[in-house]
Amino acid sequence: MKLAEIYKEFQTDIEYIESILERTLSAKHPVLNEASTDLLKAGGKRIRPVLVLLAGKFGNYDLEKLKHIAASLELIHMGSLVHDDVIDNASLRRGNETVMARWDNRVAMYTGDYIFGHAIETTKAFQDKRVHVIISDAMHQMCLGEVEQIRDQYNWDQTIRTYFRRIKRKTALLIAVSSQLGAIAADVEEELQQQMYYFAYFLGMSYQIMDDILDFVGTKEQLGKPAGGDLRQGNVTLPALYAMDTNPSFKEKLREELTKETAKTITMEPFLNDVRNSGGIEYAQDLSDRYLSKAYALLNEFPNCEAKTHLKQVAAYIGRRKY
Ligand code: IPE
Ligand code: IPE
Ligand code: MG
Ligand code: MG
Ligand code: MG
Repeated sequence: MKLAEIYKEFQTDIEYIESILERTLSAKHPVLNEASTDLLKAGGKRIRPVLVLLAGKFGNYDLEKLKHIAASLELIHMGSLVHDDVIDNASLRRGNETVMARWDNRVAMYTGDYIFGHAIETTKAFQDKRVHVIISDAMHQMCLGEVEQIRDQYNWDQTIRTYFRRIKRKTALLIAVSSQLGAIAADVEEELQQQMYYFAYFLGMSYQIMDDILDFVGTKEQLGKPAGGDLRQGNVTLPALYAMDTNPSFKEKLREELTKETAKTITMEPFLNDVRNSGGIEYAQDLSDRYLSKAYALLNEFPNCEAKTHLKQVAAYIGRRKY
């Protein structure tokens, strides 16, 4: 099942959120306007707003309330992507040129900040302090995750523990709070709010591991950018960690040959093949599947309703985002 089909049932509500995002990002400044609206129009799966809306369905579903949260979280996500592409030196995103490639790092810095600013502004409608604490903490953690990634670039001695901490911070927590905040805004009972948080957290962990796998085995069409970028950038993800742990000579080869300097011109294919042939893809896939199973197990406890079926479909979509 495609995402578009899953979203069909609540298409009008998503379109409403889209229109808010468009309105929010339209800037007088031509560069900011173009940079941010181009990214918006390039699409994206809108997983975070969808989780907000679906969580809201378990309580008093009020789109006028949920819209602020759904839009804000998608804006935080978008701002972080603009910054992420600077950190990852990525020239393509969603199949289009990134802000940093089309303009430069300075423009990307301010475009990301501009989008973040709007994300914060969008939440001003909320009196509940908890909402602001949760959102600011998620942003804070996300920055830590990305900064830790910079610190650990080309560090071939890092452990799997640091990898999990990083993906939790940079990806899973924002996804977790999407569903938690949707539940809070809809006055879902406390226990279910917590379960929704953990459900989406597990989903987010599974999702980032999958994203890291795809960077080794996906096609350019599938990814909207060339494969192999993570390792070239010295971003050590789960499949590579496994390959290094099980084959010390691969680790030494990386240490000797792949540096920030050589990365600009080196042919990545042999390194990528080493990872692909190491069993690291299967290992990471297994862990991604395990997180997904944990998400399903929690989801099964949720009260039965249509939104539960949709959440199952979203989870299944994430699990199928395969090579
Ligand atoms: C990309 O997130 C970054 C990760 C957390 C892996 P998405 O895969 O949700 O990006 P879009 O919004 O659909 O482009
Ligand atoms: C996720 O990591 C980035 C953020 C959560 C900001 P990646 O760097 O792997 O995301 P992609 O692959 O560029 O979308
Ligand atoms: Mg990154
Ligand atoms: Mg990236
Ligand atoms: Mg990635």
